[in-house]
Amino acid sequence: MEIINAVKERRSINFFEPGREISVGKLKELIELANLSPSSFNLQPWRLVAVNTPERKKALRKCAFDQPKVEEASAVFIIIADPDAVEKNSARVLDSWEKLGYMKPEMRDVYLGMMKNLYGEAGSLTRKLFAVKNASLFGMNLMLTAKGLGLETHPMDGFDEAAVKKEFKIPDDKLIPMLIAAGYLKSDIKLLPRAFRRDIGEFTSFE
Ligand SMILES: Cc1cc2nc3c(=O)[nH]c(=O)nc-3n(C[C@H](O)[C@H](O)[C@H](O)COP(=O)(O)O)c2cc1C
Repeated sequence: MEIINAVKERRSINFFEPGREISVGKLKELIELANLSPSSFNLQPWRLVAVNTPERKKALRKCAFDQPKVEEASAVFIIIADPDAVEKNSARVLDSWEKLGYMKPEMRDVYLGMMKNLYGEAGSLTRKLFAVKNASLFGMNLMLTAKGLGLETHPMDGFDEAAVKKEFKIPDDKLIPMLIAAGYLKSDIKLLPRAFRRDIGEFTSFE
C-alpha cells in the first residue's frame, strides 16, 4: 500500500475479528519494519511486549479498564519507553557509526557528551521525555506499517500503567506511552466517517 493511502486509511478500530490470529512471522515482519523508525541519535529507546495469546490478552484487558478490543484484537502491543537507552545503546550506535564511516573515532567522546547534555541524567524528566517521544514515533511507525500489511490498529491510553507493569513484569523506571491493538476489522462492521480534524490554519504558521 502506498504510504499516502496508509495515512488516509488508518483508523482507530474498535471492533476486531475475535479469534483471528496474526501469524508470528507476520508479527515479526511488522516489528522489524516498525524498528526502522527514526530516533534521537539512533538510540532506539523502546521495548515491546507483543501480547498475542488468549490468556495474556485477557490479563491485559483487566489492566485496560475492561476494553473488549484488548481481548478481541489479534495482538496488543505494549509500547515501552526506556529512559536508560542512552547508557544501554550508545556504545553500539557509535560502533556502528564508526564502522560505517558516519563518524571518525576521535568524535566518539564528543557524541557521548552531546547525548548526556541533551538527555540529562538517568531518571530525569528530560530523559523520560526523550524516551516517550521516540517510543511514540515507533508506535506511529508500527500503526502505519500495520496498515501496509493489511492490518488494522487502535492506540490506547485507557489502561492502568502500574497494573500493566505488575502483570507483565515491566520495571518501574520504564514508561508505557500507549498500548496498540492490532488485528482485522470485524466482518459485519461498517466504519463511521472519519471524525473531525481541525483546519490546518488553526495550528500552522508559516514563516
Ligand atoms: C495515544 C493515544 C491514546 C488513545 N487512547 C484511546 C483509548 O484508550 N481508547 C480509545 O477508544 N481510543 C483511544 N485513542 C484513539 C483516539 O480516540 C483516535 O485516534 C481519535 O479519535 C482519532 O481517530 P482515528 O485514529 O480513527 O483517526 C487513542 C489515540 C492515541 C493516539
